[in-house]
Amino acid sequence: MDNQMIIASTLDELRAARLLLDGRVGLVPTMGYLHEGHLSLARRARAECDRVVATIFVNPTQFGANEDLSKYPRNLKGDLSLLESTGVDLVWTPDNETIYPPGFSTWVEVEGLTKPLEGAARPGHFRGVTTVVAKLFNAVQPQVAYFGQKDAQQAAVIRKMARDLNFPIKIAVCPTVREADGLAMSSRNSYLSAEERQSATVLFRALTAAKDAFERGEQNAEALRKIMSNTLASEPRAQIQYVSCADYDTLEELGMVTGKALLSMAVFMGKTRLIDNFVIG
Ligand code: PAF
Repeated sequence: MDNQMIIASTLDELRAARLLLDGRVGLVPTMGYLHEGHLSLARRARAECDRVVATIFVNPTQFGANEDLSKYPRNLKGDLSLLESTGVDLVWTPDNETIYPPGFSTWVEVEGLTKPLEGAARPGHFRGVTTVVAKLFNAVQPQVAYFGQKDAQQAAVIRKMARDLNFPIKIAVCPTVREADGLAMSSRNSYLSAEERQSATVLFRALTAAKDAFERGEQNAEALRKIMSNTLASEPRAQIQYVSCADYDTLEELGMVTGKALLSMAVFMGKTRLIDNFVIG
């Protein structure tokens, strides 16, 4: 099946096409509306694996009741042509009924790591993510799965799930891809008005300010959080949901930064919720 990308929609189609993929298989799970960030994952999978499988599924269970599921941007035709041009071998586009058959009542939940940050701001979000990712792992059976560092907590939670459930899958985390002015790429950036789009660089500026301070010797985590919130507060369109300076592994808020730490934030720009992070130390 060289060159010809297969598109599977049912589980049977996916399984039949997967059986024909030999060698090391890399999985790139997505919710579609693809941008350079997703394509960087697909390219890395292409470079490291014999075969690349991508999935496109807007997973309803990871959206909260007041979130943007029905408005989530979609462009299946555009996505398929981008994936094909990146050299993806097989794309699975399951429907809701395939992933969540009638009467569905089995969930995968990681405890602890899912409590702070995104878990606190979006109750139930990670239960939806880990459940769907476990199902994608079962269906595709990849050797490696690729995720973006932009969703740092998601990557940590999925790594924990893979370890706890003995999935024989390596979790590869790829660097955040940014626009020229620093804004992290995200499908949700398409919601921003022109003015909000300009203001949205404040997340990158806030993270950069805290990282610069750390590199100049500031190890007090509260001082770093203050630098981030002060920078964000300088942009009137930005409404802070949280800023954090946490231990990289446990995601617990730090007093002093003495090892690897995650600077992260969630900020509303108008109605659009943006997240970003830097790793320091
Ligand atoms: O990061 C995403 O796009 C989603 O959370 C994922 C991993 C595809 C699960 O729906």
